[in-house]
Amino acid sequence: MKQKLKILGIIGDPVSHSLSPLMHNAALGHYKLPYLYMPFPVKNEELPDFFSSLNRRKIVGLNVTIPHKQAVIPFMDSLSREARLIGAVNTVIMKGKKLIGRNTDGAGFITSLREEARYDVEKKHVILLGAGGAARAIAVALGLSGTREVLLINRTPKKAHDLASELGKKFSQTVFSASSLDDIDISYWALADLLINATSMGMKGIKLWPLPLHKLSKKTIVSDIVYNPLETPLLRRARRLKLKTHPGWGMLLYQGALSFEMWTGRPAPIAVMKQVLLDALQY
Ligand SMILES: NC(=O)c1ccc[n+]([C@@H]2O[C@H](COP(=O)([O-])OP(=O)(O)OC[C@H]3O[C@@H](n4cnc5c(N)ncnc54)[C@H](OP(=O)(O)O)[C@@H]3O)[C@@H](O)[C@H]2O)c1
Repeated sequence: MKQKLKILGIIGDPVSHSLSPLMHNAALGHYKLPYLYMPFPVKNEELPDFFSSLNRRKIVGLNVTIPHKQAVIPFMDSLSREARLIGAVNTVIMKGKKLIGRNTDGAGFITSLREEARYDVEKKHVILLGAGGAARAIAVALGLSGTREVLLINRTPKKAHDLASELGKKFSQTVFSASSLDDIDISYWALADLLINATSMGMKGIKLWPLPLHKLSKKTIVSDIVYNPLETPLLRRARRLKLKTHPGWGMLLYQGALSFEMWTGRPAPIAVMKQVLLDALQY
């Protein structure tokens, strides 16, 4: 008997650049599942109409990208713990008529470190550059994973201080603090186990700060969540200093893999998803 086609997709504004349709349709094709994953360009003022049309459009699950990760929250019937802590939703699951908002961004980053770099963040010292949406998701995931210390450094220092103070109250096992790049004690770099860039620095036209990477110890992993270019200026500098590196495509891959598993109940075919993603990013 022919199965009815179900729809998954991503909403954002814009979404035409998103690699999620490519990655998810390859994964769905791998299992020959009766789903199609589509991009939905939705403007902010169109969100109410979009959410009231889910049944008609046969939509059973969604990813959410910029700028709607916070704006979709009022449309959810419930939120997962991560989504509540992060204050943003990147994955919507339909359970009957109820919409559950989840967030796989932070967990995607942690899973990528574990699977691609064989690295566990528990009890580690982390320097996290950024205090925007992605940095927040990663900071929450570090707190949930039992990281010992997270030092936040951001171009606008107040945002880093506010985030550190908020998360410090939510996680008793992790010390969250904030500093500007100029004020950070230079000995802290030698202590860091992991340096993460979760800012836009390294994207085309956005220059990287003069970070004292030579002060990092040789055991430090340097991670950049920017994935275009595949080797960012930060990762190139780290590689030349013979430091271990962890590229940004991993977070994109594993946040998608976790969403896929939530919608379909199947283990994500990582090798298939990774291949199409890297092929697309290598142009
Ligand atoms: N690999 C993945 O799956 C993944 C997922 C999400 C995001 N990302 C990437 O992560 C980056 C940040 O995304 P987001 O969602 O967090 O964006 P966002 O909420 O707009 O935050 C941007 C962050 O970058 C900083 N920043 C922007 N321009 C800068 C500059 N010229 N110099 C120094 N810092 C600058 C901002 O500092 P201020 O607070 O001072 O403005 C803020 O910390 C983007 O490049 C995005 O492509 C990757």
